[in-house]
Amino acid sequence: MAFEKGFLIGAATAAHQVEGGNIHSDYWAQEHMNHTDFSEPSGDAVDHYNRYAEDIRLMADAGLNAYRFSIEWARIEPQEGCFDEAQIAHYRDVIRTCKAYGIEPIVTLLHFTSPRWLISRGGWESDETPGYFARYTRYVMEHLGSELHYVCTINEANMGIQVAAIAKRYMRQMMAKMQAAGGNGAGKNDDHSGDGTVQMGLNLEKMMANQKAAEKERMEIFGVAKTECFTSPRTPHGDELVMEAHRAARAVIREVAPHVRLGLTLSLHDIQAQPGGEENAKREWAEEFTHYLPALEGDDFLGVQNYTRTRTDADGTMPTPEGAELTQMDYEYYPQALEHVIRRVAQDFKGDLIVTENGIATADDTRRVSFIQEALSGVEACILDGIPVKGYMYWSLMDNFEWQKGYSMTFGLIAVDRATQQRSPKPSLHVLGGFCNTSPRENGQHTPGYHSSDMQAHIDA
Ligand code: BGC
Repeated sequence: MAFEKGFLIGAATAAHQVEGGNIHSDYWAQEHMNHTDFSEPSGDAVDHYNRYAEDIRLMADAGLNAYRFSIEWARIEPQEGCFDEAQIAHYRDVIRTCKAYGIEPIVTLLHFTSPRWLISRGGWESDETPGYFARYTRYVMEHLGSELHYVCTINEANMGIQVAAIAKRYMRQMMAKMQAAGGNGAGKNDDHSGDGTVQMGLNLEKMMANQKAAEKERMEIFGVAKTECFTSPRTPHGDELVMEAHRAARAVIREVAPHVRLGLTLSLHDIQAQPGGEENAKREWAEEFTHYLPALEGDDFLGVQNYTRTRTDADGTMPTPEGAELTQMDYEYYPQALEHVIRRVAQDFKGDLIVTENGIATADDTRRVSFIQEALSGVEACILDGIPVKGYMYWSLMDNFEWQKGYSMTFGLIAVDRATQQRSPKPSLHVLGGFCNTSPRENGQHTPGYHSSDMQAHIDA
């Protein structure tokens, strides 16, 4: 299998999950609460902030031609209205290092974490937030826009809605359990404690138990009892605000850097209706995808992020099938989901598609290799049918901080010993690189004939 010249093959990370020391962010503050929902704090993460050149070199050496990473708003604007030039310079270096290695940088402006001050001002349920996001976007684009070809405004813009749905489902299960204990019969999902349907590391049981005490502590830390972080359960109004933030950022990018191709990314499940579940499946897909279509009009691409399938019957989302192979995240190993989702999305979204995330958390790298091979053969089938898929970013470049689940999940193409921060590429890194035909678009931005070994010499010197 070979992708066309210019097809982007790469890996993705998010600043907070890999950089380390993101002290001005809302997540950092929550990780350090006494009543935290996190199993451990992010700490130094995998020190990508200091080791990005080594990580980019490893990608280039394996043959990858794209790197999707995020810029950390809390570093750029640690206090409201105070922008930090040194941090912009840092990200400029990251971008230029990518280019020197022949790697196309794909930048995400918001990947879940926000500055702590934003949460004190009402966070992602406040009408002021789209304006703050647009101002931050303007600053970044004025300084870095000329260096970039691809920008994702917001990562998984639908995550808050998914978290709200799963929290509701979890409450229902808890109620059913309580009723069962009182002799009223159990709910059908009772024995299924791992809910593999939300696409990030959440620790729901711990979350619920901690709620009350945490409220008090939040008041002390953020000045609000209810913190509205990006991944908090979203109200419909908050969902609108996220789209407003996207539209505002799009307008800024069009004005400041009109050459940039932009889009947002969505977490999309391969929702499969079982007999009787057709209506539920349709409703879930509308919530996850179709109701966003008007807000996406005017975007250049959509970032598709998929990890597995879900099955839906008349009662809603079903547990994973009996005997199914599960990943570390507790959801089903099902690489075919990506092809299904791309085909479904392409029925309604007519712009380009970039797979901005797809991956598996497993200790067994041979399963990762199979996952990548199967997922990419699905992508190829879509392209052969004329669907404009322009790239594939595996999640993730390195084993990293999986949010509330801490460092327990290993999604990476590269293992990291956090005691020494030593990197060890896994065979899957090279397998992924093998799918790449070319270095990125020949657009004059890259130095022709500049190979990673040249860059290594430059670093070593
Ligand atoms: C997120 C990542 C996360 C990954 C694996 C996606 O939902 O964008 O931040 O680590 O899934 O759970």
